[in-house]
Amino acid sequence: MSVLGSNLDIASLDRDYHLHPFTNLSAHAQGDPIVMTKAHGTRLWDSEGREYIDALAGLWCVNVGYGRTEIADAISEQARALPYYHAFASMTSVPPARLADRVISMAPERMQRIFFGNSGSDANDTAVKIVWYFNNAMGRSRKKKIMARARAYHGVTVAAGSLTGLDGVHRAFDLPVFDVLRLQVPHHYWAAGKGISEEEFCDNLVREVEETIEREGAETIAAFIAEPVMGAGGVIIPPKGYFERIQKILKANDILFIADEVICGFGRLGKYFGSEVFDLDPDVMTIAKGITSGYQPLSGCMVSQRVYEALERGSDEIGFFGHGYTYSAHPVPAAAALANLDLIEKDGLVENASTVGDYLCRQLEERVAPHPLVGNVRGVGLIAAVELSASKDTYVPFDPALGVAKQVYAAALLNGMITRVLQDSEILAFSPPLSITPPEIDEILDKLLLSLDSVCDTLAADGHLGEGVRGVA
Ligand SMILES: Cc1ncc(COP(=O)(O)O)c(C=O)c1O
Repeated sequence: MSVLGSNLDIASLDRDYHLHPFTNLSAHAQGDPIVMTKAHGTRLWDSEGREYIDALAGLWCVNVGYGRTEIADAISEQARALPYYHAFASMTSVPPARLADRVISMAPERMQRIFFGNSGSDANDTAVKIVWYFNNAMGRSRKKKIMARARAYHGVTVAAGSLTGLDGVHRAFDLPVFDVLRLQVPHHYWAAGKGISEEEFCDNLVREVEETIEREGAETIAAFIAEPVMGAGGVIIPPKGYFERIQKILKANDILFIADEVICGFGRLGKYFGSEVFDLDPDVMTIAKGITSGYQPLSGCMVSQRVYEALERGSDEIGFFGHGYTYSAHPVPAAAALANLDLIEKDGLVENASTVGDYLCRQLEERVAPHPLVGNVRGVGLIAAVELSASKDTYVPFDPALGVAKQVYAAALLNGMITRVLQDSEILAFSPPLSITPPEIDEILDKLLLSLDSVCDTLAADGHLGEGVRGVA
């Protein structure tokens, strides 16, 4: 028998015992899970032998693509030499020390120290705790609130989940648990329909930040957290000038800027970090996903010298910096990260993300934007979105009961392409491995168009594409 046993066994074991993340649990209990068994490059194969092209790089993370034996070898070698050791009380091992040096030297200039964790969520929890600790060490015990945007995705742990701005992450979990000052989602496409120009929209967003600070008092606000490009909330690219203007306000009010680079970091936007693309100068920066391309779980929270010095002072007073995980600075994921960074460099994947990303964006405009179900296409580097709309001229949501984007997702899966529908939206996300080639982009878009056509036909046949919604293609 193979390592999998029979497929039927795996599906039923999974149905009966596995509590799935971000899954409709009752549908899962009735359904047939797709059991992935192998992968290479941009492709995956399931236990039935079906092949998929992965347009999302797992969960936006397999930057170097699947099947890189260099990373597998580094993992195996490290696991044989030293499978585990911790970093508490000044202990360390070789890979995390080397990785800390390497990541800090690649990161925006002000980043001076890195704390290692295991997931994007715990990195953002660490960021929140560091920001609170920083203000306590500075004697500013009231400066604790954090500004975060609607539809932001910062993870699901109690603090990171509180920062996330998606109802599905809050509802039923009693989140948020602390003072999060929620700002609007910076998505101009939704506002454009109301006749608001990109410039006016940006003015409104900036005014909202100013008014929030005015209302709450800068002495109560610790930080502003933002993804350079929002990922799971909608692949939302901020309007021109947004970050430049907001950063000035933050600096003037001594409010720290936390850049959540969990998706954007390590080449996704065609530069090593999203901060380079948008000229961000963060005080704290979180990373995960692309640092190991998902081959091992690893995250990081970087801080500026100013923040670090306050932590050092605080730790002197308390006796230690009382935060850390058993698996912080785990040598095996750190070894995987070093091998992964070698590949990103050697294969020129950041440059590839930029050039193939431009190709993807051009093809989306030329081939996908004209489709009758599509309202907007957008992208930066190798992260992109296709947003469906019931009107071509302006954003008009489809009746959510129709689940139009979900139908496109399902059709794409049958056509052998994996994309993702983003929560409470009609947005399909694309974030393939950075190693992808233009012919593979063509293949993804061929499969997408085929899927859009078949859903369009079904909607038309069921009378859902008539008056008031849109003309049939
Ligand atoms: C921007 C961002 N931050 C944080 C997270 C949370 O990461 P994790 O799922 O590893 O906890 C994610 C996950 O998708 C993310 O996209």
